[in-house]
Amino acid sequence: MTENLHSIARTITLLQPTRIEIGAGAITRLGEWAKEFKRIFVVAMPSTAGFVDRACLVGDVVTYVDIPPEPDLPAVDAVLAAARAFRPDLVIGLGGGSVMDVAKLVAVLWDAEQSVLDVVGVGKVNGRRTALAQVPTTSGTGSEAGIRSLVTAPDTLAKMAVESAFMLADLAVLDPELTYTVPAAVTAATGVDALAHCVEAFTNIKAHPVIDGYATLGITLVGRFLARAVADGTDTEARTGMMMASYFGGLCLGPVNTAGGHALAYPLGTRLKLPHGLANAIIFPHVLAFNASARPEKSEIIARLLGLPGSAKADTLFGEGFAFCEVLGLDLHLAHYGAREQDLRGWAEEAFAIKRLIDNNPRPLAVTDILSIYQNAL
Ligand SMILES: NC(=O)c1ccc[n+]([C@@H]2O[C@H](COP(=O)([O-])OP(=O)(O)OC[C@H]3O[C@@H](n4cnc5c(N)ncnc54)[C@H](O)[C@@H]3O)[C@@H](O)[C@H]2O)c1
Ligand SMILES: [Fe+2]
Repeated sequence: MTENLHSIARTITLLQPTRIEIGAGAITRLGEWAKEFKRIFVVAMPSTAGFVDRACLVGDVVTYVDIPPEPDLPAVDAVLAAARAFRPDLVIGLGGGSVMDVAKLVAVLWDAEQSVLDVVGVGKVNGRRTALAQVPTTSGTGSEAGIRSLVTAPDTLAKMAVESAFMLADLAVLDPELTYTVPAAVTAATGVDALAHCVEAFTNIKAHPVIDGYATLGITLVGRFLARAVADGTDTEARTGMMMASYFGGLCLGPVNTAGGHALAYPLGTRLKLPHGLANAIIFPHVLAFNASARPEKSEIIARLLGLPGSAKADTLFGEGFAFCEVLGLDLHLAHYGAREQDLRGWAEEAFAIKRLIDNNPRPLAVTDILSIYQNAL
């Protein structure tokens, strides 16, 4: 069974944006591409709205800046109402994963009969109406590469996933200069998110040799460039490397997806209100070590590509993975974010219930395993 899943003969579908502009200053090419559009709706945040001018857009341009981090349903409904009033023929997502995920929904829903709740799940979107360009300003989610959007449910605070090929971008612009202003702590956390996408796809039970190629490229780039990007936000080479790593991580999410790491991170994000990247960084070394016995060769490759000196034995890998994140300035102790021992069992049950990811993990994760990982992370 596992052998078959690993086979190169397994069929996968790989989707990518139609066109990708890459490099320092690439955002100036957005205006040239967008010339044919007359009504342009830019989705942004206060921290990213200032980049609109660099895109040299012509026509009627409206910039909506009210997207909160980890957007919830009311936030998405509000931007949809603004888009309906404007009637765009091009939607641009200019921001991190929070913004790009919303831009996808605006592109498919502003002119549709369907609501956000109607399209939660896989393949529920009826049809794509509006052109979409995605311009990431963080290097982490790889959302610009993919077909998923995550929206927080206001009542349960759980993430609802919408997946549709209609949400794929026509254009992605990977301009590292847009990430110069990302604070060091956000650079570190989002960078480990990109790494986690690559590592969880690489060690996944659904791993595929084609996706392994993107995953190892991404891991290599994180090993070479994340610490540099954290140390000097204007290091163009490092910022470019991380933007590519994030993109490759996004490609891994489509046909393979993440596994135990992301499943364990989600309750932390929800319950402790941690940003997605930080929740993943806290979990990363624990799951890397937990999975080592099930994927010894791949764990050794990951360690080598990240420049970790030791072997792929679980305890060595844990110590080195932990140190890798810690030198980036990340605080990986759950208690420092308000977690208490008595919370952990409930969270472990929640993580275990995310079967679409837990079932992808190369080593089975029981509730007791998850609980002991959370206890170790406390
Ligand atoms: N679609 C997917 O496949 C996918 C994958 C992973 C995560 N996500 C989702 O993406 C969201 C997280 O995205 P993220 O990690 O990119 O964070 P984010 O978009 O929430 O941004 C994090 C913070 O960085 C700030 N910021 C963004 N760009 C900046 C810049 N250039 N300069 C200064 N500050 C800047 C933002 O204002 C925000 O405060 C979550 O909602 C998560 O669920 C989606
Ligand atoms: Fe992620």
